Amino acid sequence: MQHAILRGAAASALLCLAAGASAADKIKVGFMLPYSGTYAALGNAIENGFKLYVAEQGGKLGGREIEYFKVDDESNPAKASENANRLIKRDQVDVLVGTVHSGVAMALAKAAKDSNTTLIVPNAGADAITGPMCGPGIFRTSFTNWQPAYAMGPVAAARGHKTAITVTWKYAAGDEAVNGFQEGFEKAGGKVRKHLNVPFPNVEFQSLLTEIAASKPDMVFAFFAGGGAVKFVQDYHAAGLGKTIPLYGSGFLTDGTLKAQGDSAQGLLTTLHYADGLNTPRDNTFRAAYDKAYGMPPDVYAVQGYDAAQMMQAGLAAVKGDIGKKDDFRKAMRGATIDSPRGSFTLSAAGNPVQDIYLRKVNGLDNLVQEVAARKLADPARGCRL
Ligand code: BEZ
Repeated sequence: MQHAILRGAAASALLCLAAGASAADKIKVGFMLPYSGTYAALGNAIENGFKLYVAEQGGKLGGREIEYFKVDDESNPAKASENANRLIKRDQVDVLVGTVHSGVAMALAKAAKDSNTTLIVPNAGADAITGPMCGPGIFRTSFTNWQPAYAMGPVAAARGHKTAITVTWKYAAGDEAVNGFQEGFEKAGGKVRKHLNVPFPNVEFQSLLTEIAASKPDMVFAFFAGGGAVKFVQDYHAAGLGKTIPLYGSGFLTDGTLKAQGDSAQGLLTTLHYADGLNTPRDNTFRAAYDKAYGMPPDVYAVQGYDAAQMMQAGLAAVKGDIGKKDDFRKAMRGATIDSPRGSFTLSAAGNPVQDIYLRKVNGLDNLVQEVAARKLADPARGCRL
């Protein structure tokens, strides 16, 4: 038996050597993620999710061990190209996994394309990445900023809201989220009166809240995430606005943040591609394993990291670990069905998940699923030419 295993291992080593790589060589994965600042918890959850899936495969993907390289991108677009090139040129990673912030991700995607390095985006929703910047080596396991926000439009209109004000950080993710919401809301008969914003990552919301109170829209739609989402939801509640002007958002507003938000978040409705209480065998198994490994429940960011590793596994299994077969590796990833804890999904031609968007309601420490707000929602991928 042992001999048979050794013979198998030797054969696959020879196969890899024939392709110019040693089976003993590890596959290099470069995490470019925020490990400091308002999105630090998001970066850590992505890494945790990725490593959990790899651990579940015995520490290997496609039969090859994985070696990790890490850069803290600080969610700082000004340092993004330099940080990306540390992983690409200095560490010579095989696959880039990053990042959270849309502005940083666009620079990362450019560096990945320029160097023909495969990139899996495990969060940043910048529409352009799977729009005009799409390419054969660019993949995403998360969402476009348009997707969850657009899905909230008809939900809010169906609840009788006719006018809305949006509020966000002034950068690609915020702009695209509020535009997505406006598109869905106005198609369903609503009217967005005004877009309010503050620069990223400011959390001085008082003047915006005063303007909302004076303007009295039927509702507010917000995009914030991480530390900024905690502060916004707390401030909105403390200002007493929740009683008269209901607050909605894409689900980043309340995902991974509920412990800190406490009472201020109770009852909030958001839309996202993951939810608590899905109660499927796949999600239950994932949640138990994540909790066991890290002593906390997973959030959407952990799921996206986990699925980035699943996607790599699909590609590597197809080339039997020979990542030098770049075209076949990428083709297999693009054609994969990912057995995600969120529910299985496929990728669009542009490389973005085609997925269900859930309506969730905050109850205690959970974003409890209410219904599917949009089934198999595909981003329009405007400007993608492949
Ligand atoms: C973004 O910048 O794309 C983003 C950041 C946090 C949560 C969701 C989106």
